[in-house]
Amino acid sequence: MFLVTGGTGNVGREVAAALAVAGEPVRALTRGGAPADGPDGVEYITGDLNKPETLAPALEGVRGLFLLPGYDGMAELLAEARRAGVEHVVLLSGSSAESGDMANAVSRYMIESEDAVRASGLAWTIVRPSGFMSNTFEWIPQLKAGDVVRAPFAGVPIAVIDPADIGAVVAAALLRDDQRGRVLRVTGPEPLRPADRLRILGGVLGRDLRLDAQPDDEARAEMLQNMPEKYVDAFFDFYVAGSLDESVVTTTVRDVTGRPPRTFEQWAAAHAASFA
Ligand SMILES: NC(=O)c1ccc[n+]([C@@H]2O[C@H](COP(=O)([O-])OP(=O)(O)OC[C@H]3O[C@@H](n4cnc5c(N)ncnc54)[C@H](OP(=O)(O)O)[C@@H]3O)[C@@H](O)[C@H]2O)c1
Repeated sequence: MFLVTGGTGNVGREVAAALAVAGEPVRALTRGGAPADGPDGVEYITGDLNKPETLAPALEGVRGLFLLPGYDGMAELLAEARRAGVEHVVLLSGSSAESGDMANAVSRYMIESEDAVRASGLAWTIVRPSGFMSNTFEWIPQLKAGDVVRAPFAGVPIAVIDPADIGAVVAAALLRDDQRGRVLRVTGPEPLRPADRLRILGGVLGRDLRLDAQPDDEARAEMLQNMPEKYVDAFFDFYVAGSLDESVVTTTVRDVTGRPPRTFEQWAAAHAASFA
């Protein structure tokens, strides 16, 4: 049995689907219960990652665990997993963990989660993706209202990755022994600026879409309405001060799965209905 945390999220849903397609028994953890449109062959269980004491039923009979980063009590959760007989954990981290910069709040929670996994006594694999193609869903409200998207960090190229490719890499790491003890830096096939993504999305949707670069002060004020200041500071450190280079393209998706990473056009076509 495999336990997939965040089983209804962009990445967790893909991990669960990839394991189910491989014919493995999969349990997906969320706080909200089973979604209406989950992949076939996945059972759902309720639990809260911030409350490791609620996770014993979810961990029963589990040998491989896919874990999201940044929740309270990661060490207790991993100790609970070890007691339950889990052998291997695959942690979702992020590309910025490589910096080791504990002053950046995003890097910090990734690094602390990685440290907890390395200290857990379980076999481990750490997956460090670049920004997700699914972050493009943030544009849906603007695209429902018109053809202009006002977006922050317009000059920043990111080799965005399809969560389906993260799911394929994670599933391979859980199903085989050869990725244990490895840190996998996974990216999409090419760096894209927000305007590049919007042009490709427009082509898929048959719409003439235009990007309006949001000034940094306006972006900061808007982001502060949706997330704690320390995370806004972290993203400004990455993308305005330039501490993080996510334009780097790696061969890891191909190396681990045997096929190239999906393009943004493929992602957009697969999710076009969400933008209609
Ligand atoms: N977006 C990026 O570009 C990026 C890049 C690198 C790394 N990451 C990391 O990737 C993570 C996952 O991203 P995603 O897009 O897959 O996330 P997502 O779509 O927001 O999904 C989050 C999932 O976690 C579950 N969840 C949330 N809080 C929980 C809790 N306390 N206990 C149990 N389950 C909980 C949610 O289900 P319920 O709400 O039903 O509980 C949902 O299934 C991010 O949180 C981030 O740390 C993101």
